[in-house]
Amino acid sequence: MRKGKCGVLTVALPKGRVLEELMPLFAKAGYPFSHDLFTSSRKLVFTLPEQGFTFFLAKPMDVPTYVEYGVADVGIVGKDVLLEAGREVYELLDLKISPCRLSVAGKPGVEPALYPRVATKYPRIAERYFKERGQQVEVIFLNGSVELAPLTGLAERIVDIVSTGRTLAENGLVELEQITTVTARLIANQVSYRLKRNSIQSLTEQLRQAVERGVSV
Ligand code: PRP
Repeated sequence: MRKGKCGVLTVALPKGRVLEELMPLFAKAGYPFSHDLFTSSRKLVFTLPEQGFTFFLAKPMDVPTYVEYGVADVGIVGKDVLLEAGREVYELLDLKISPCRLSVAGKPGVEPALYPRVATKYPRIAERYFKERGQQVEVIFLNGSVELAPLTGLAERIVDIVSTGRTLAENGLVELEQITTVTARLIANQVSYRLKRNSIQSLTEQLRQAVERGVSV
């Protein structure tokens, strides 16, 4: 496994909405990085040796991969992604930001077929969920805009993230079952956690205190 430079923590950040809520939390934890630093250009790697960090921006679904391989010592990622990715990483802290839920949704009043099709970006979670309930389904993987599947007849059901509920409502869909609640988590590479224990524990502790104090975004 490759390791980051000694003394500097390499952090994989997820592009997108979690990042927006993360920066105020980092500031509250004593790490005042501006959201603009990461979003005002197309740069992906940010080396800040004075602050003891190298950050990089990855697609959320790829963050656990970078952390498992040790390219990043730690990462920030939604619990949904963590469950779906099934990577060997340590989950250190619930950051309690970006709350949403992972749910089954579909058109209202439609009785499911005997062997319904379920479209999702989360095939592993969906397979597991329906298997545990003894329900036979055909899971169809999609990369996004999953709400389109029941509208077009590709699938009767979807498994997807519901945050404000706006996307479902504006597409005439309803939430049918809640699978789990989701928030962002701090994760760590298992080897880094031993070799860079002090820096990782210090970051975790600072963030833990910031989470406990609460963040207004
Ligand atoms: C996510 C999710 C839903 C939507 C839910 O999609 O997959 O489509 O947000 O949010 P809401 O309940 O607040 O409307 P995202 O915007 O990440 O894009 P995608 O569908 O292309 O993955």
